[in-house]
Amino acid sequence: MNSTAKSIGVFDSGVGGLTVLRAIREALPAHHTVYYADTAHLPYGNREPGEILTFASYITEYLLSRGAAVIAVACNTSSALALSRIRERYSVPIVGMIDCGASAAARASASGRIGVIATLNTVRSMAYASAITSRRREAVVVQQACPDLVPLVEAGELHGAQVASALKGYLGPLLGAGVDTVLYGCTHYPFLHGEVRAVVGTRVALVDPARQVAAEVASTVAAEGIAGERPDAPDVRDRGVDFVTSGDPDQFRRIASTLLGHDIGEVATDRGASGGRG
Ligand code: DGL
Repeated sequence: MNSTAKSIGVFDSGVGGLTVLRAIREALPAHHTVYYADTAHLPYGNREPGEILTFASYITEYLLSRGAAVIAVACNTSSALALSRIRERYSVPIVGMIDCGASAAARASASGRIGVIATLNTVRSMAYASAITSRRREAVVVQQACPDLVPLVEAGELHGAQVASALKGYLGPLLGAGVDTVLYGCTHYPFLHGEVRAVVGTRVALVDPARQVAAEVASTVAAEGIAGERPDAPDVRDRGVDFVTSGDPDQFRRIASTLLGHDIGEVATDRGASGGRG
């Protein structure tokens, strides 16, 4: 491990990974964290798999250059399509979404009939289907791609007729298939939790992998002896989180601040992300 490395690196295509950042901050409130939102390339859900690996490698290198000693891939699409490759390429510990989500869903379901809502790429990868059935052989996994949800969350639209009708369309087939559990297989979706609950009712368990990802990050931090506190930070809410985007920093600041319920402060721009990467 790099002896000067001391940060936690977190990345997603956009604001979705904030649901994971929130859980990491709860587990490790004093650790310096760098959050990278690749909004210049959003959404990842329907991009070519090769592009997802290119983006994940680029961002991993960026976060390493910012002193990351552990990286949380707070994006299911990147976890499904690129995690094993970036783990091979870089020696830093990297925590992904799929194993955490699959374990949590396999535990939460009584009947073993589990719905997974995710991006088209994550659904096509079958990563969740195989990770869940490797934990519970008898499980029946019903997947549903939800391409309209990420643009709604990125626009800050968490309520209203459009959200309700999109969710009814996506969740109806899962309810029809008799699932007792729905896994949020995209980090943007927990921001729609209230609306999802309104559609599925109280009998269906809703599983967000974020807390388990945060627990894994925390145990990695402990095992690796990553200090990372920055006690000089002026405000406890902002202590040690640096936000970086490949897209529009003002827009990211506005939406992220609304979603997190407090002003996240200045957002830096990484132009290296757009240069030549499409
Ligand atoms: N939030 C991401 C995920 O968990 C990616 C969403 C997207 O950019 O399509 O899959």
